[in-house]
Amino acid sequence: MLRTNTIFLGKLYMHLAEVDSTNLYLYQYIAKNKPIEGFVVWADKQYAGRGQLGSKWLATEALNLTTSILLLPKWLAAKDQFLLSQSIALSIVDLLLAYNIPKEKIAIKWPNDIYVQNTKIAGILIENTLKGHFIEESIVGIGLNINQTDFKENGLHATSLSLVLGKNFSIVAVLSDLCLFVEQRYMLLKQREKNAQIQAAYIEYLYQYNILKTYKIAATNTLILAKIVGLTPEGKLILEHNGETLIFGLKELIFI
Ligand code: BTN
Repeated sequence: MLRTNTIFLGKLYMHLAEVDSTNLYLYQYIAKNKPIEGFVVWADKQYAGRGQLGSKWLATEALNLTTSILLLPKWLAAKDQFLLSQSIALSIVDLLLAYNIPKEKIAIKWPNDIYVQNTKIAGILIENTLKGHFIEESIVGIGLNINQTDFKENGLHATSLSLVLGKNFSIVAVLSDLCLFVEQRYMLLKQREKNAQIQAAYIEYLYQYNILKTYKIAATNTLILAKIVGLTPEGKLILEHNGETLIFGLKELIFI
């Protein structure tokens, strides 16, 4: 049972034993039912979990959190949707900090993968529906590795709360903590004057920020030595290379 100390997030929830994808389930659910903000769906097993850019999300049954949260940020312009993505990434950072993972070990790899000690611990897939220039519904899918300690079967280089902290966790207890952090970050986003604060916090955790690293430009297959120096308002990555500014969208840049 999900017990949250929130105002609205997770007050209504559904726990599924098995589903193709919680994002897909929630999407189909709200097509038939009234969308209620803060509705949370999670599943013990996802057999067709979806990742970013059409990839798959693999999570061994009953060991990890696979959840989707319904938000209705109708006040958020579509052009500002990256702020929501930043807020969700930061809410997972808040959770990791609350679990005593040192700040120096946590990073957000652009656009919204969560890393601990250079290894992915969580992924986010946000699927928005739009109405005119504004967001109508936002399905916030989060996959967080919790008790899995062996990722060989999934062919992944990944980590989990258990690997980092050396103990097991109750998945539903982690989810209820996560609900609180998501709600807090969401409320902050709603206070639109706090947007600069969100962007600054995101940059603070941005993986490889301001460090000279090698990247591959997908279009030309060329390697460049460059530094991440910022983000455009729509969430593209700004790099500095040989005194030149380069801007990359999703799939356009590969981290080496
Ligand atoms: C990524 O890093 O590629 C994003 C992964 C997002 C995975 C979560 S698990 C719960 C929700 N349902 C899905 O099918 N995907 C998201």
